[in-house]
Amino acid sequence: MTDSLFLTEDSHDKKQFEDCILRTMEYILNSVQDENAYTGPAPDKLSKIIGSHKILPEEGLGFEPMMQNVKKAILPNFLRTSSTKYMAHLHSPALKETIASELIIASFNQSMDSWDQSPVATATEVAVVKELDSLYGYSTDSEHPADGCFTSGGSQSNLTAILLARDWFCKTKFNYDVKKFGLPPEYRKFRLYTSEISHFSMEKSCHLLGLGYESVVKVPVDKNQRMDVEALKSLVARDIQNGNIPFCIVATIGTTDFGSIDNVEELRKVAESCGAWLHADAAYGSALILCNKYKSRIGNLSLCDSITVDFHKMFLLPISCSAVLVKDGRNFEPLELHADYLNREEDEEDGYTNLVGKSIQTTRRFDALKVWMAFQCRGKNGFENIIAHCIENASYVYEKLVEKKDFVPAIKPELSSVVFRVVKYDDENKNDELNKKIRRALLLTKGTVIGQTVYNNRVHLKFTLLNPRVMHESLDSLLQTIEDLAH
Ligand SMILES: Cc1ncc(COP(=O)(O)O)c(C=O)c1O
Repeated sequence: MTDSLFLTEDSHDKKQFEDCILRTMEYILNSVQDENAYTGPAPDKLSKIIGSHKILPEEGLGFEPMMQNVKKAILPNFLRTSSTKYMAHLHSPALKETIASELIIASFNQSMDSWDQSPVATATEVAVVKELDSLYGYSTDSEHPADGCFTSGGSQSNLTAILLARDWFCKTKFNYDVKKFGLPPEYRKFRLYTSEISHFSMEKSCHLLGLGYESVVKVPVDKNQRMDVEALKSLVARDIQNGNIPFCIVATIGTTDFGSIDNVEELRKVAESCGAWLHADAAYGSALILCNKYKSRIGNLSLCDSITVDFHKMFLLPISCSAVLVKDGRNFEPLELHADYLNREEDEEDGYTNLVGKSIQTTRRFDALKVWMAFQCRGKNGFENIIAHCIENASYVYEKLVEKKDFVPAIKPELSSVVFRVVKYDDENKNDELNKKIRRALLLTKGTVIGQTVYNNRVHLKFTLLNPRVMHESLDSLLQTIEDLAH
């Protein structure tokens, strides 16, 4: 039997496609045998295992022998994000219906840059973006409706938003076209304000956009790890006095470590007062929009000029899946550029939408399908239950930590992360070492992966609770294990 290459209408090709998928499914199912998050070896041994396989042999091995290698080297050593013992990062398990989405996405391999590469995918992304815009309170039927675009993740959504903010600012304040002329002469004075614990994609974006790290003003946080609005006002006033130019304020709606939420209502007032763009980095907290019980915690995001929404965090969709939403869709203009081979203006005039004009990517995945499928499959109620459960798990852990003698929680959680420190010694340096040791021991001997970060200059541990399968009993038992390791 000849080895087919693709799925086609031919019955032989269909059979081989089916065998390939079913066989892969069998290998995947067999590899998941226990509840541990990680059972693979330490880094040096893992590299040796992978190094023992020749990646590009002269003659191909064929599907089955190649899969035997996957079975031996790769599958047993995966980190299992769906394990209840995995709570290290904003890195979620993937809802099962969205694995089906991934299969569909890969099988048909659409590219979102032009309509003729993705007819139904383009229509679907446009519809999903419209739904998201109205979900977050943006207008979709006004004279200048909101718009949005899927991206590879929160970092790219933030980069896109800051690029649009910079170019909007230069156009409206200086009547200057960055797309045409590059950065304006005043660019060294441009300032972006964000909390001192915001995501590092702020600095990365400003570097990539030619503004440099110096343009990022890190605003102190209050005791709840939210941006201190009075400090922001003083920094803006100081900068204006010194001749600097505030162009953007970024509210973090769910900080990476603490899940703390900046106050967009207050930040809007500051943005108005200095004429800056207000962006919400809601990579983490955006999911609360589907949870009536807790959604007031994220504030009114429609006050922001743009919003980063990450589906591969609290929405539990597979990587990659994110969107940047923009309140006035005209502000995507800086990303519009026409190429004769791809996105002809004459086609667009006739209604053929080419989404490349809103993206910093050209070839782009049909990630919107995952949102379309998961939203329909679970509905608002399904997501409400998942999100509320994770938030309540964090509150539960916090209450337990407050009761325990050797545990000190950092702050009361607003989302689903809890940061805390085990304190056994009078010497804080020894406590730092103890906390590090506990995390390593959980990873290497208990199949459990938790997070580690720094708060008030001290090593802390972190539970990032994104898995709705985690119950109070397993949290109790994990806290007990940590207590045992500390003694
Ligand atoms: C608040 C926040 N913004 C942005 C990002 C970056 O998202 P991504 O990893 O999808 O690029 C993260 C990642 O954890 C984050 O926590």
